[in-house]
Amino acid sequence: MDFITIDEHITLSPLTKKDFPVFIARINDFEIYKNTCNIPYPYTLKDAEDALIHFENRSKNYGKNTSWSIRKDEEVIGGFGFQISQKSHKTEFGYWLAKDFWGKGIMTKVVAKMCEVGFENYNFDRIQAHIFENNIASCKVLEKCGFTLEAACLKKHYKKDGKIFNGKLYAKTK
Ligand SMILES: CC(C)(COP(=O)(O)OP(=O)(O)OC[C@H]1O[C@@H](n2cnc3c(N)ncnc32)[C@H](O)[C@@H]1OP(=O)(O)O)[C@@H](O)C(=O)NCCC(=O)NCCS
Repeated sequence: MDFITIDEHITLSPLTKKDFPVFIARINDFEIYKNTCNIPYPYTLKDAEDALIHFENRSKNYGKNTSWSIRKDEEVIGGFGFQISQKSHKTEFGYWLAKDFWGKGIMTKVVAKMCEVGFENYNFDRIQAHIFENNIASCKVLEKCGFTLEAACLKKHYKKDGKIFNGKLYAKTK
């Protein structure tokens, strides 16, 4: 499952070196950094190179692709990943979208499709996401995609830049 079609403009396929200039320009955003755990800020060329190696190794270990760039008319506008490196009945997943594309329903469509793919093609029984407590947009995406809020307040779940934040846990089962 390397190439996935969401609609006539939005597709998913793995990140490549050719994508780096646009990818770095779009992911290099404090608003993305502050709501995620594995995306540095500022985001450098070395970060992109490390990310590509990480995605390729993770997919190799898992035995199937686990990481996609979200593309609008082939240009990278975001990312989606099943955060898993060994076969399991469940996975955590993560996603980001460049700010210019927020609020257009794109991530809701991507998450809905990737749940189908996860249940049908990856054989997951459970797909889950931990999020920062105040990430309202992400809560809405997950709720619109039929996820259940299993933990409304994971106390002191995150530490970022020396500050502690509560988390939430959403999950969807087959
Ligand atoms: C979370 C994120 C992926 C949402 O993507 P998106 O494509 O803008 O989401 P959608 O357009 O599908 O919107 C889903 C809902 O959230 C709402 N929403 C979008 N951005 C919002 C914001 N900044 N504040 C409040 N609500 C927001 C939308 O209005 C929509 O709700 P509605 O249907 O009731 O109107 C995007 O904001 C993002 O990349 N944020 C930074 C990284 C991040 O948080 N990643 C997730 C980590 S768990």
